[in-house]
Amino acid sequence: MQIQNPLRFAMGGLCAALLLSVTLAQSPLDPASPNAAPQSPAPIGKGKMGKGKMGQGKMGKGNDPTFVADRDTFHYLLSNHDSIQRTVKLLKNGVETVTESDRPEVAKKIQEHVPAMYERLKSGNGVRYWDPLFAEAFKHGKKMKMEITRTEKGVKVVETSDQPDVVRIIQAHAEVVSRFVKHGFAEAEKEHPVPPIPDKK
Ligand code: HEM
Repeated sequence: MQIQNPLRFAMGGLCAALLLSVTLAQSPLDPASPNAAPQSPAPIGKGKMGKGKMGQGKMGKGNDPTFVADRDTFHYLLSNHDSIQRTVKLLKNGVETVTESDRPEVAKKIQEHVPAMYERLKSGNGVRYWDPLFAEAFKHGKKMKMEITRTEKGVKVVETSDQPDVVRIIQAHAEVVSRFVKHGFAEAEKEHPVPPIPDKK
């Protein structure tokens, strides 16, 4: 192809590049953007950005100062899932879990992640609303109690509720965390159902 007017061609290219960069900068699905999610509690859309749905969360009133740090931490844990060990003991009113790593840097991230998520349960400023189980967990977060004990290599967590319908969410979530540990990002891309309420006719 012969270019008839090189200046016009160059200007055209520049305009296209500018348009593209403005579009990218404003993308509502950019996971790093503080405006990444809708303002309402409705489930957020499911776009694919970078690590797919994983970057998305519901931001409290378009402003979530710890979201990027929290997301980086759980992405780090998913990336290093092979270095994590976890046990779950079911209790009548919840779970007792131990989640650890022999690698100090991974252990430290586990120790950061759990209190940060507990804080989100208490404030109702959740993440991962596109996943039904997580949406349900954040709906009932204020009825959950978490006792977090640091161990040498991670954390021991006793998570309980005095409401049976909330206990089933806690136990289902603990199972999903174990699946994150086993499968990493492959599991984190999936939705997880809310377990049915037992004995509800
Ligand atoms: C390998 C990856 C991960 C590990 C090792 C991990 C570890 C944990 C642990 C130990 C707990 C305390 C409750 C329990 O032990 O069952 C927890 C709670 C929580 N995690 Fe993670 N997590 C991982 C990935 C994620 C991801 C990808 C998200 C969200 C995008 C997430 C969000 C939460 C939330 C919201 C809670 C509090 C909810 C509840 O415990 O009911 N975690 N996580």
